[in-house]
Amino acid sequence: MKNLNYRPIEWLGDRLKIIDQTKLPREEVYLELSRYQDIASAIKELKVRGAPAIGVAGAYGIALGARKIQVRSKDNFLEKLQTISQTIATTRPTARNLFYAVERMSRLINTKSNKSITEIKTALIEEAIKIHRDEIEATRKLSQFGAKLIKDGSTILTHCNAGPLATTGYGTALGIIIRAKEQGKKVKVITPETRPLLQGARLTTWELKRARIPFTLITDSMAGYFMSRGGINSVIVGADCITANGDTANKIGTYTLAVLAKENGIPFYVAAPTTTIDLSLASGKEISIEQRNPAEVTHIQGVSITHEGNEVANPAFDVTPANYIAAIITELGIVRSPYEERIGELCRGQE
Ligand code: MRU
Repeated sequence: MKNLNYRPIEWLGDRLKIIDQTKLPREEVYLELSRYQDIASAIKELKVRGAPAIGVAGAYGIALGARKIQVRSKDNFLEKLQTISQTIATTRPTARNLFYAVERMSRLINTKSNKSITEIKTALIEEAIKIHRDEIEATRKLSQFGAKLIKDGSTILTHCNAGPLATTGYGTALGIIIRAKEQGKKVKVITPETRPLLQGARLTTWELKRARIPFTLITDSMAGYFMSRGGINSVIVGADCITANGDTANKIGTYTLAVLAKENGIPFYVAAPTTTIDLSLASGKEISIEQRNPAEVTHIQGVSITHEGNEVANPAFDVTPANYIAAIITELGIVRSPYEERIGELCRGQE
């Protein structure tokens, strides 16, 4: 990508450097993490967030955890490694990319189980670096495919943040928009603030500014107003988990946008690497939806906005049924309905 003058995740050989996304846009703070426990906390607290970035950070977490294990017996080593993988896997329940990364690291551990502890440690670091590279490459390719769907002069509504921060690469939804701009197309973005944690207002605006793409920030409840006035050409969002039938979990509020898009005849696209697809889940009903701390709803940036003791719900994601989705844009190509068939073909073609 041209001119990306920040690195959301950087491997420094013996530690992981991440930009602390909770501090943006006011402060650009970088953290250097060398303990797997700190990486697990960074994921839970959304210092690193966005499904692909969570997967990459998780993989490095396992590699760093393995590196610090000081035992002689292989069995003890593998047992401790198992606990580390478990800790990483239980940080956030919805992001499929996290489980993809944990499973890929586990497969590697199995294939190397007859090697020495030192060799396994080295192999785990190499595998985490590969997972990182693969995610970057996947978002580069999918952005290229997706940019074909964007006409010159388009106004696109996106949701939450699905840019370089969320992926460590080009971005998914935002990657497509950035790529379209690089191709010389004039594009404008509408970005809802994305309550409760304001990823749209804090992070998407920050990234769009850096990419010099014009945007308008709105509150989440303004989306229908703008869609019904005819000024939005498409909606593009990222994904945390896509099931075998195309149902898609993404940031809370995405389903509302999909319904509004259909009602207003606006194509609704999902952009995600295939590492976000979970073929073992038949439909969105099987996706585990993260329920977060009610304080994220009762407070904005630490300031209370309601009475104490109210009943509060805070699901972090919702599921958009596949029939609302005009296309799913991946690094292997663009798939359209019937998703059940097409997603299977796409993923099997990779094996
Ligand atoms: O809770 P978050 O901020 O991790 O949620 C992120 C999203 O919902 C993104 O849209 C999704 O992970 C795709 S990122 C390319």
